[in-house]
Amino acid sequence: MEPFRFHLFVCTQQKPEGVPSCPASGSFAVLGALDHEIQARGLGKDVQLTTCGCMGLCDEGPVMVVYPAGVWYRRVKAADVSEIVGAHLGDGKPIERLVWNDAAAMKAMAVEHGEKYREAMAMRDKAGTLPDRLDQMIRGYWPSRCLLTALEFDIFTAIGEGGNAAQIGTKIHANARAVGTLLNALVALGVLSKSGDVYKNTPESARFFVEGSKDNHRNGLLHIANIWHRWSTLTDAVRSGTRVPIGRDDTSEWTRDFIAGMQRNAKDRGPLVVKALGTAGVRRILDLGGGSGAYSIAFAKASPEVRCEILDVPEVVPLTTEYVSQASVSGQVSLRAGDMLHGDFGSGYDLIMLNAICHMFSPEQNRDIFLRARRALAPKGRLVVQDFILNPEKTGPQHAALFSLNMLVSTDAGASYSEPEYAEWMKAAGFAEVSRIDLHGPSSLIVGLVK
Ligand SMILES: C[S@@+](CC[C@H](N)C(=O)[O-])C[C@H]1O[C@@H](n2cnc3c(N)ncnc32)[C@H](O)[C@@H]1O
Ligand code: FES
Repeated sequence: MEPFRFHLFVCTQQKPEGVPSCPASGSFAVLGALDHEIQARGLGKDVQLTTCGCMGLCDEGPVMVVYPAGVWYRRVKAADVSEIVGAHLGDGKPIERLVWNDAAAMKAMAVEHGEKYREAMAMRDKAGTLPDRLDQMIRGYWPSRCLLTALEFDIFTAIGEGGNAAQIGTKIHANARAVGTLLNALVALGVLSKSGDVYKNTPESARFFVEGSKDNHRNGLLHIANIWHRWSTLTDAVRSGTRVPIGRDDTSEWTRDFIAGMQRNAKDRGPLVVKALGTAGVRRILDLGGGSGAYSIAFAKASPEVRCEILDVPEVVPLTTEYVSQASVSGQVSLRAGDMLHGDFGSGYDLIMLNAICHMFSPEQNRDIFLRARRALAPKGRLVVQDFILNPEKTGPQHAALFSLNMLVSTDAGASYSEPEYAEWMKAAGFAEVSRIDLHGPSSLIVGLVK
């Protein structure tokens, strides 16, 4: 059975640097070009494009196979793709000069590759070599630190239309030799290109990291650069059981980066949350720790009848005001400076939101917030928690488990929590029903309903 007219398999098996592989020969560029060309020619419904692992023909990569006929292509270049899609997938005529049909040679090569691979693995195992997966995890911070430093210097903006290490070093007030070393590493990571001694942004870095680009993420990403310093205290935090002061996180700059970092995620998730919860029966919303106000803004935009109140700490409220006014919803969204850990929330709300809040606090603090929130809700009102929810064993998903450490190094008693924990706190606070809504992405909603 073949549900598609053609089914393409493109090898994208990553291998250690220096080892021949299809990605090293450009299979990702081929894959991207195939996807683009197939869609552009309106063949998306007839052609299934799939990535696959090593086929043992790595020296001849990029390798791809077209089924159901089993036509093998080798050494495919992105420049060949238009011809392959037009003639083979469009008119059913394979491109003979790229087809590889020496079955005996292919089989011999694949079998030899398999034998060599197993032999190499056995030797490594015997010698007690650290597995690549562990080795890469241990050094995982190298690329990350490299990019974070580049963002801290705003190096991509300084590069502009291009420049050499000395010119860029002068612009960012840094040592030319060291800047050159950093720039070369950024080229190796694929976020810059180099021709002669001139460095240029790639289309990707120009889009996402350069001041003035509409999709520039730098401001939001600087929050991750700030948290880097906290992660450096992880060993001490594990020893002591709580965050270790580092004296660099109470500045107004830190707060601005932090809220920009929150907005970076929340602005895209806002409409998803509105869609998941709906606006039927929702008139008054309390957005606890609203940050950039992205969720209130999304609700206000979705329904002119909705009124939102955002409660946040005094240092953040002026920043929230900026975001709300930029979104032109000031008439529907009001702001209140205060501390959600104490005091009455008011009454008569249809929805109270805790987006990315509970992980900052201890179980006792969350129980107390849930109780005060339940009292502030109208009949049929809902308390909504959005967070990275752990499995009952607290061992996954991976992002939620690692995020819990992020909270260990950044808060007094925060952590990621599991669905049974949230459900138990909601029940104890008197919510009649508790349900979970999974959104696309790493966070989910836990919804408590008042009778
Ligand atoms: C992780 S951010 C989440 C922001 C926003 N809800 C979102 O999802 O984008 C946490 C927010 O809670 C605020 N916050 C922290 N402690 C607070 C407290 N005790 N009272 C009120 N707001 C607080 C912070 O200032 C920040 O805006
Ligand atoms: S890596 Fe593609 S065939 Fe081996």
